[in-house]
Amino acid sequence: MEGIKGVLIGRDMLLKKAEELGTQISRDYREKELVLVGVLKGGFVFLADLMRHITIPVDMDFISVSSYGHSTRSSGVVRIIKDIDINITGKHVLIVEDLVDTGLTLKHLKELLNTRGPLSVRICTALDKPSRRKVEIEVEYKGIVIPDEFVVGYGLDYGGKYRNLPDLCTLDPKACKK
Ligand code: PRP
Ligand code: MN
Ligand code: MG
Repeated sequence: MEGIKGVLIGRDMLLKKAEELGTQISRDYREKELVLVGVLKGGFVFLADLMRHITIPVDMDFISVSSYGHSTRSSGVVRIIKDIDINITGKHVLIVEDLVDTGLTLKHLKELLNTRGPLSVRICTALDKPSRRKVEIEVEYKGIVIPDEFVVGYGLDYGGKYRNLPDLCTLDPKACKK
């Protein structure tokens, strides 16, 4: 695709990770009331893959937050655009993200959801970029660790584009105006 340099993580490996994590989650939450909370926009592709590998009944909802805007670097400002509709009091919550970068989005989200009386709040992410972490955050279900390179595809965007790429790709620097 125009603006893309190459594939960093192929769709097969991404799907295999979703399957692995789905199996583990199904085991850990057996006979528990679990709510999956997908973080829009980026988290929806992984959530769709992950939930189809979960073999226990689960409820799900979306929350929409944004921290990046139209830049390739995190601004550190987390904004809630759309909240979940489900009542999570007395339920187990699993936040599903595409990427943990600085950790600011998830730290904020976890704190927010914890004020609503859930039995637990854990985090599941498809991708982890630990080299860029600004705040300490526990990630219970971690997919693939990636280097500090700007990536798009599999739900991740640059300026709103490229979320539809099935593979995780690196950007062509020529297409990347900072
Ligand atoms: C990206 C990504 C994560 C977050 C991670 O979302 O999808 O949600 O940043 O960054 P952090 O760990 O530094 O907080 P973004 O804010 O770009 O919104 P989007 O999902 O709508 O693209
Ligand atoms: Mn996001
Ligand atoms: Mg984004």
